[in-house]
Amino acid sequence: MKNIIVLVSGGGTNLQALIDSQQRGDIKGGRITCVISSKPDAFALERAKKAGIPTVVLSRKEYSDSKSYSEAILEELNRQKADLVVLAGFMTILDECVTKAYSYKIINVHPALIPSFCGEGFYGLKVHERALEYGVKISGATVHFVNEKADAGAIILQGAVDVLNDDTPETLQRRIMENVEWKLLPRAVSLFCEDRISIRDGKAFVEE
Ligand code: GAR
Repeated sequence: MKNIIVLVSGGGTNLQALIDSQQRGDIKGGRITCVISSKPDAFALERAKKAGIPTVVLSRKEYSDSKSYSEAILEELNRQKADLVVLAGFMTILDECVTKAYSYKIINVHPALIPSFCGEGFYGLKVHERALEYGVKISGATVHFVNEKADAGAIILQGAVDVLNDDTPETLQRRIMENVEWKLLPRAVSLFCEDRISIRDGKAFVEE
C-alpha cells in the first residue's frame, strides 16, 4: 500500500473527495496516512480528523521564506515515508528541494485548463476571475505532476465545463469543482497508486 500524504491550506473539498473515494474503496493501492496543513485554522483539518486521519500543521507564517518552509515540508514528508504527495488546494509554491526529492511523486489539482490561467499568482477564485475577464467559453481543471515551475509539470488528466453568460467566479468555481476536480483528483491518485501512469519524453500517459 502506498502512503498518500495530502497537503492543504483551506476548505478542503478536494481532500473530502479523496476521503469519500477512499471510503468507497475506489482508491486502489494506497491510503491517506497524513494531512499536512499550511494554515492552523484550515477547515480541511476538521475533515481529516473526522475521517480519523492524522494531521500535522506546518504554518507557512512561521517561516521566513519559501526555502526554509520547503525544507520543513521535506523533512515531514520523509518522516511520513510518503510515496505520493497530493496538493489539494495547497496555496504555497514548494521549493525545488521538495520537487526534486519527490520528482513525479507530487500531484496538484489546478482549477483551469493548463496552459491557460496558471502559474504564479493564479490560485483559488483568482483563476476564475481571470477566466471570466478574458471571456473564455470553456474552462475546467487539470491534474498534473509538480516540477520546479509553477503549474508546468506533466499533465495527467483534464476535464472541461461550459462557461455560462451569467457566471460569477463563485458559480464557475463550483461547477468546475463538482464536475471535474472532485472526480479527476481521486481518479489520478488511484491511477498513480496502481502504477498506471507512465512518463515518456516528460509527458504523462495513463495506461488502460
Ligand atoms: C480548488 O479549486 C483547487 O483547484 C484550487 O483551490 C481550490 C481549493 O479548494 N487550487 C489552486 O488554485 C492551486 N493553484 P479546496 O480547499 O476546497 O479543495
